[in-house]
Amino acid sequence: MAGKITFTMIKPDAVKNGHIGAILADINQAGFKILAMKYTKLSAEKAGEFYEVHKERPFYGELVDFMSSGPIVAAVLEKENAVEDFRKLIGATNPAEAEEGTIRAKFATSIGENAVHGADSDDNAEREASFHFAQTEIYR
Ligand code: TYD
Repeated sequence: MAGKITFTMIKPDAVKNGHIGAILADINQAGFKILAMKYTKLSAEKAGEFYEVHKERPFYGELVDFMSSGPIVAAVLEKENAVEDFRKLIGATNPAEAEEGTIRAKFATSIGENAVHGADSDDNAEREASFHFAQTEIYR
C-alpha cells in the first residue's frame, strides 16, 4: 500500500523570494496535512549528509552550497499516496520541464534552485523526516 507521509523542504531560493506562504497554500489546497514543520538552516555538513546519495554526481558541490546558503522550511506531510501525489504537485526537477501550475513551474528559478524538495520513496520519506525531526515532533 502506498505510504501516507512525505517529506518536503521549501528551499533557500523560494524562501528568499518570498514564496513560503504561496507554497504552503498550494500544499494545503492539494489536500496535504502538516504533521511537522520548522524554519531552519542547514549547515554545509548537514546538507551534505542529507544529499549523500548524490555524492558522486557533478552537481553535488553546488547543491550542498545552495542548500546551506539560507534558511529553509522543512515539513512532514500526510495524505493518501503522499510521495507520488506530492511529486506531481511539485513537477519536474527542471522547472523548464515542469507542468504548468506545479510548484516548480510557478516558483523555481533553475534546475539547481528549484524551490522545493519532495521525497522520492516511502522509505526516503521516513528517513528524511527522521533526519529533521524527532518522532515526538511529528504529530501523526
Ligand atoms: P534529483 O533527486 O534528481 O531531483 P528531485 O529533487 O526532483 O528529486 O536531484 C536532487 C536535487 O539536485 C535537485 O532538486 C536539484 C539538484 N540537481 C542539480 O542541481 N542539477 C541537476 O542536473 C540535477 C539532476 C539535480
